[in-house]
Amino acid sequence: MGAVDQATTGGYLERYDQALAEDPISAFGLVREWMRTDWRSLFAELRERRPVFVTPGFTVVTRFADVAEVLAHEQVFSVRAFGPRLDAALGAPFMLGRDATPMNWREKGLMQLMLAPEDAAGVRELTGGLADELLDAARPDGRLEAVEGLFRPVALGVCARYFGIPGPDPRTLGRWTRAIVADGFANFLGDPELQAASAKAGAELVAHLREQLAEHRATLLAGRDLPDDVFARLVRTSLPAGAAVSDDRILINMAGLPLGFVESAPGAMAEAVEQLLLRPRVLAEATAVAGDPERFDPYVWEALRFSPFFKLLPRLCERDHVLAAGTPRSTVIPAGTFVLAAPASAMFDAAVVQEPDEFRLDRPRHHQLFFGSGHHACLGVHVAGVVIAETVRRLLLRPGVRLLPPPEGQVERSLGIFPDTFVLGLGTGTREG
Ligand code: HEM
Repeated sequence: MGAVDQATTGGYLERYDQALAEDPISAFGLVREWMRTDWRSLFAELRERRPVFVTPGFTVVTRFADVAEVLAHEQVFSVRAFGPRLDAALGAPFMLGRDATPMNWREKGLMQLMLAPEDAAGVRELTGGLADELLDAARPDGRLEAVEGLFRPVALGVCARYFGIPGPDPRTLGRWTRAIVADGFANFLGDPELQAASAKAGAELVAHLREQLAEHRATLLAGRDLPDDVFARLVRTSLPAGAAVSDDRILINMAGLPLGFVESAPGAMAEAVEQLLLRPRVLAEATAVAGDPERFDPYVWEALRFSPFFKLLPRLCERDHVLAAGTPRSTVIPAGTFVLAAPASAMFDAAVVQEPDEFRLDRPRHHQLFFGSGHHACLGVHVAGVVIAETVRRLLLRPGVRLLPPPEGQVERSLGIFPDTFVLGLGTGTREG
């Protein structure tokens, strides 16, 4: 993972087919391992030779049009692949765990209203201030552990100040989101102990938010004002109590904000920074324009295309469906199939994306799938977009940011997904711009 090299080594399908004939479990293990370490060349071979890759355990969808088709048909390809685990963690349904219910319609609309796109400029400023403070405090020894030293504290700081969710303290909030998202929700091996820890963390998060809600209510009823954050907006919307949005629904939707954000934003920052630092020429161009967010941000999004944080989006096929009907790759997906739609592959599909192996800044927005697509498209896209891009920008405004040779400079990831450490080289001078 992480190499710039685009060469397709190939031969995955031969090895897979042979392993399948001998021992299906080992074939399954091979594919899982390749998805973690060799995903770019594995997907290149699949797009070319078996774009709808049917295995006994799951089906991987690799072409752009087919990934879009899966994500557009939420009643056929449902989030029941993980929804029940999300419900279990929160103790109640949440939009990302259900498809096309009245709750999805109502609450996504409500939360879109709360997360106003017009907030982006203020959130960018907030992010920039948080990032600079952390970078100023970075030890002047030419090293920065960027996950705990920058990416997560920025995300937790935005959570505190913009969402209005500081948690009991940032460490506890970060522990809850990690337990719920990484150990519970994304842990497809379903370790029961981790599932229990995830449910416990979910209960603690919701109980904490319940206390905060009571305090907010009391403040408003006493005629005092609340700060202008998302939590306060939602509480004001629901006055008088019980009118439009019940307390339980406020709590679940507020809990969804740190869960959607605190793990994925640092993940995307780590991927984007790594991809930029791997390309010296691109990096030099990006740093040259880092004084101007409008010119700088496209570098971040193109870097993320080369390694999106969510490489696979899992779905459960609810009824038999002909995927890619009318094309040579048309495939019947039987009900009950566990489907993995692969945005990481789709964004390299030459049938849609021009010169996919080139680092280009002129990609149309609709070719970028890092925030999902269709019914479950990311609720936090406007906020997350500025937080990710501004954090990377503030980092690269510092002199001498560079990858360190492995093993020290390697991004260490839980489950191969969630970054734990990423030690960067950093100049010791002051900021340039
Ligand atoms: C402000 C920060 C964020 C919030 C509040 C947030 C929240 C959410 C929510 C609630 C959903 C589900 C929407 C639905 O079911 O209708 C969602 C989906 C999604 N989000 Fe975010 N998110 C945030 C940041 C991010 C980041 C940083 C990434 C990655 C770069 C990301 C990627 C996605 C993706 C790929 C989906 C679709 C999941 C699927 O289809 O299975 N989000 N987000």
